[in-house]
Order: sequence, then C-alpha cells, then structure tokens
Amino acid sequence: MQTVQHIAELRTQVAAWKRAGERVALVPTMGNLHRGHLRLVERARQLASRTVASIFVNPTQFGPNEDFAGYPRTLEEDSRELAAAGLDLLFAPEVAAIYPRPLAEMTQVSVPGLSQLLCGASRPVHFGGVATVVAKLFNLVQPDVAVFGEKDWQQLIIIRRMTADLDLPVEVIGIPTVREADGLAMSSRNGYLSVEERVIAPTLYAVLQAMAERWRAGDRDSVALENAAKAQLAAAGFRPDYVEIRRADDLQRPEPDHAALRIFAAAWLGRARLIDNLAVT
Ligand code: PAJ
Repeated sequence: MQTVQHIAELRTQVAAWKRAGERVALVPTMGNLHRGHLRLVERARQLASRTVASIFVNPTQFGPNEDFAGYPRTLEEDSRELAAAGLDLLFAPEVAAIYPRPLAEMTQVSVPGLSQLLCGASRPVHFGGVATVVAKLFNLVQPDVAVFGEKDWQQLIIIRRMTADLDLPVEVIGIPTVREADGLAMSSRNGYLSVEERVIAPTLYAVLQAMAERWRAGDRDSVALENAAKAQLAAAGFRPDYVEIRRADDLQRPEPDHAALRIFAAAWLGRARLIDNLAVT
C-alpha cells in the first residue's frame, strides 16, 4: 500500500491507473478505523480493481463547540489495518492541502433542505462541511465508485443528492451498518464512552428496534412512538437529541402507508453523541 499526503502525487498515481484502464473506488473516512470502515474497503475492492481510502479529519464539518480537536487520530494503526485489508492507496492530506485559504473565502457546496433536517437541525454547519469535502475528494481522486455506510444514512443521501445535482460521474454505494455483538453501531465516537456508558449504549438500537416492531404491528401514531422512545432513552441515561420516523429517500415525515420508512435517532451518552437508524418497512 502506498501512502500519499500531497495532491500532486495522488493525481499522478490515479491518472496512471486510469490510463491503464483500471476502475478506481474511493472510501472517504476520518480515520480511527473500525470494522465498519474495513467493510467499506472490502466492498470497494469488489467494485473496482484499485481502491483508495482517505483519512482526513475534516474541520469544516465540526461546529465551534464540537470534538474536532479531540477527535481520535490513529494514523499508524489505521495504515496497518488498511494495508492488511488490501488497500492500494491511502490519501492522508494535511488540512492546509485541502483548505489552503480560510474557509470563509473558499467555494463551498451546500445541499439545501436535506442538510437542515435531523442531525442538521442540531449541527447546522455539519452537512455543508461534509458535502464540500466529499466534492473535493471526488474531484481529487476521480473515482468511478465511492462507498459510504448506511450508519450515516442522512450523509449518504446528501452525498447522493450532491453527486446528482453537480453531475459528478461517481457511483455512490451504501453498505449496511456494521454492529458490535450487542447491537451497538460501530463508531469512532464509541471510544468516548466510559465502561458504564458502554453497557448502556446498545439500548439505543434496542429502543429503535422495539419502535419499528410496534409500527409494523400497526401502531401508526408516529409522534407517540417517538416520544415513548425518547422517554425510554432518557430513563436509560441518554440525553436524546431526536428520534424520528421518516421517509428513507427524502427524510420527510411519513404518510401512514409510505413504502420505505426508517427510524433515525441521535442521543448523547456522556460526552459521546451516538446516532443510529434502521429500516422500518
Ligand atoms: P467516518 O465517520 O470516519 O466514516 C467513514 C465512512 O464509514 C462513512 O461512510 C460512514 O458512514 C462509514 N461507517 C462508519 N461507521 C460505520 C458502521 N458501523 N457500519 C458501516 N459503515 C460505517 O463519515 C465520515 O467519516 C465523514 O463525514 C466523511 C464522509 C469521511 C467526510 O468527512
């Protein structure tokens, strides 16, 4: 596996692959890799002859009081895992390579509507930062295909919308959430949990599953279901941000018999903000 920090080297290598007729897949990450990330790499390897991953803790998707400074950075261990997973190229740029000027003076990508809902309501700058950095990564790597996790469903559909709206020639693939044995969705932020909080954490998924079960059993009072789930989370020790049943494709509120629905939740547990989502129908 080759590791490059500079844009010019990245472009040279990818251009050589493209000239040789190879298909390139990209897996964007912020590092501190777990099995969920490695599953994306595995899928990428099935979809292309060359796989590129990026590790870049993107400052523009963190709000002013969020965990940018403390976000776990474990590049050495991540590189070993990516090499073992058969990755061809790791792109790990410095912030100044991606944002050479103050952000306020740089072109940014925004995906209106979708970016203001759910996580966007409590993290107003987040999805603009995600869309901007992913657009830049798509332009830098020029992959044929890029792989993202359904764990961040809202992010996945925002990236799909951005790719379509800007006519970017990249196929966006989503893969199902990889979970711990007790159901907790894997996340770099799970490392923020204390031993006691880690025991409570799987309750988030359990509450969402129970809620989905009630919907499937015919309970269509979405507001009552959401409030009950938030109360259960609070009783377990979480500070719920939101629990919402929404249409999977556009995140709008459901009509009673909409075909594809998902439940979305975010809740604080200690200093970790955990998110999860699952299909209802
Ligand atoms: P990060 O949180 O590092 O996640 C990188 C990719 O891994 C995302 O596509 C995410 O959805 C996926 N992922 C994380 N946990 C997962 C799990 N348990 N199962 C399956 N996939 C999982 O998401 C980001 O970074 C950033 O916002 C990024 C897209 C890199 C832009 O900066």
